[in-house]
Amino acid sequence: MKILVTGGLGFIGSHTVVELQHEGFEVVIIDDLSNASIDVLEGITKITGTKPHFKALDLKVKADVQQFFEAHKDIAGVIHFAASKAVGESVQSPLKYYENNINTLVYVLQELSQLTHKNFIFSSSCTVYGQADELPISENAPVKPAESPYGNTKQIGEEIIRDACKVDQSLNSIALRYFNPIGAHSSAEIGELPIGAPQNLVPYITQTAVGLRDQLSVFGDDYPTKDGTCVRDYIHVVDLAKAHVVALQRLIASKNKSNFEIFNLGTGKGSSVLEVVKSFEKVSGTKLNYKIVARRDGDVTEAYAETTKASNDLGWKTELTLDDAMASAWKWEQKIRNK
Ligand code: WQD
Repeated sequence: MKILVTGGLGFIGSHTVVELQHEGFEVVIIDDLSNASIDVLEGITKITGTKPHFKALDLKVKADVQQFFEAHKDIAGVIHFAASKAVGESVQSPLKYYENNINTLVYVLQELSQLTHKNFIFSSSCTVYGQADELPISENAPVKPAESPYGNTKQIGEEIIRDACKVDQSLNSIALRYFNPIGAHSSAEIGELPIGAPQNLVPYITQTAVGLRDQLSVFGDDYPTKDGTCVRDYIHVVDLAKAHVVALQRLIASKNKSNFEIFNLGTGKGSSVLEVVKSFEKVSGTKLNYKIVARRDGDVTEAYAETTKASNDLGWKTELTLDDAMASAWKWEQKIRNK
């Protein structure tokens, strides 16, 4: 079966392509290379031994999307990662985010709805919950006004899919709300490749440890949490990738209970910033240079997933630990810095 993975050279996309190939799927990747390197294709091939088909294509160009689907009518499913995802950048360039994250989703859905098999997996985010009133956060938690245009594009994206599924019962879709993806494939052939100074915690930690950054700034230790620093649900990217394959197989086997389902993907465990730092120091055997600074605007205090629905309905749960993720992130960082 042929599966289209848009944004398949990205961090989560590339790890998902590996797991799809492990499951015997034929994979076609579309990526515009705006936030990924073509070298990732080689990394995937080194892991699985099978080079995925690849098409450099800008999904914002509707005619090109139509032309692609014309040539690939045998697609059995689409996993849609392609989107811009930097929260801070989205505040500075909202129209770029609405164009890139919304138009592309509409064009892909329009073409998908012409196919025989209409199975669609959408990359969503726990950011849609904002600061949830109840913890752990379940899928029924209210979606709150987005804190950033990026988060808004995920909320709007889910609404677009919901509306499309309402009028087309043959369109089957699952939105996966990721918590905080971290780590890298154990082979260190693929991993996170942030461009410029990382916005996210774990790549900033590994870049500090490898000497690329002077010091990690911990954004606030005066939150009402176990040690004053923010709490998040850090999920190993390989666990996350496997969940996408399980969700796709659910749709292909018509095991879905409705034609639009939503699942939280997390470990169900909250870890503070300082606990992540401690985990890194333990697995790397190095002391991390960090300092406590002021809070970062827009940060929620605490977020971690209620995992019952994913384990009961999807039949998936995480297997890897925070230490596994930090060790794999460190191995990857050292590999790409040739250390
Ligand atoms: C985690 C914690 C920071 C950097 C974002 C997006 C979310 C998803 C994942 C796309 C927070 C602290 C961070 C640093 C720090 N992205 N931190 N120093 O903000 O939970 O989620 O990335 O889907 O949508 O919102 O992740 O890694 O940026 O921050 O202290 O240099 O680490 O304050 O508490 P976040 P993060």
